[in-house]
Amino acid sequence: MGEMMSDELLRVENLHVSVEGTPILKGLNLTINRGEIHAIMGRNGAGKSTLASVIMGHPAYNITQGTIHYKGSNIEDMEVFERARDGMFLSFQYPAAIPGVQVGTFLRKSVASVRGEAPPPREFRKELKDAMENLSMDRSFLSRYVNQGFSGGEKKRLEILQLLLLQPDLALLDETDSGLDIDALRIVAEGINSVAQNTGCLIITHYQRLLDLVKPDVVHVLLDGKIVQSGGPELALKLENEGYDWVEALV
Ligand SMILES: Nc1ncnc2c1ncn2[C@@H]1O[C@H](COP(=O)(O)OP(=O)(O)OP(=O)(O)O)[C@@H](O)[C@H]1O
Ligand SMILES: [Mg+2]
Repeated sequence: MGEMMSDELLRVENLHVSVEGTPILKGLNLTINRGEIHAIMGRNGAGKSTLASVIMGHPAYNITQGTIHYKGSNIEDMEVFERARDGMFLSFQYPAAIPGVQVGTFLRKSVASVRGEAPPPREFRKELKDAMENLSMDRSFLSRYVNQGFSGGEKKRLEILQLLLLQPDLALLDETDSGLDIDALRIVAEGINSVAQNTGCLIITHYQRLLDLVKPDVVHVLLDGKIVQSGGPELALKLENEGYDWVEALV
């Protein structure tokens, strides 16, 4: 009694995933509660982006064993758009350009789709203006085509703008810190922190520096398709200083 109930958002159990017949994830377990920030670190090719994609429902990834529960239900049969409508958000490691689609239109349609109704234009303009100001994004981006000719850092800011507008329940952020200049890193971190209280966050990153600004509750190491080590923020520091060899030696 009097104990805090954990508000479980995501529970991944014994997840095995193959891509075109090649096993990538090999028995991964992970639970994220609302309000928690989890960081996943690991070598290139370990399976981090695969994990984010499979949670979001990317059809190229084949679950061969194990389950993903989101808000208490097995989401195996949910399409990507259904997951998005139910509050899931993925910020891509490599955001794709969408030639011919203006940023303003894209954002309005995304918000309408996820909220289930088009936002009133005047309110949406205000919301957008505030969010863009928070991210120090120039208004001229609204009329440009999505990610077309954007610099690396500009693409990442647009991902965070979507995060701020969509206010997801579960945010999967795949290397959102890569390619950001020092000021942009701080701005993006503030954006993440501003939604983190009501959101479960899974932050995939290679660097400790974002985690100085966005305090993770748990840091995980993904190695060869499994989470092999979990700890507090100090684990990220240790990895930064010592690399991954010692983790490999443990398993
Ligand atoms: N469509 C695919 N076809 C073949 N192999 C794939 C495919 N997608 C992913 N892989 C392989 O799965 C492994 C895991 O890839 P993933 O992108 O999940 O790694 P990552 O941990 O995100 O790496 P990084 O830190 O470089 O982003 C890699 O060896 C990759 O080549
Ligand atoms: Mg990746």
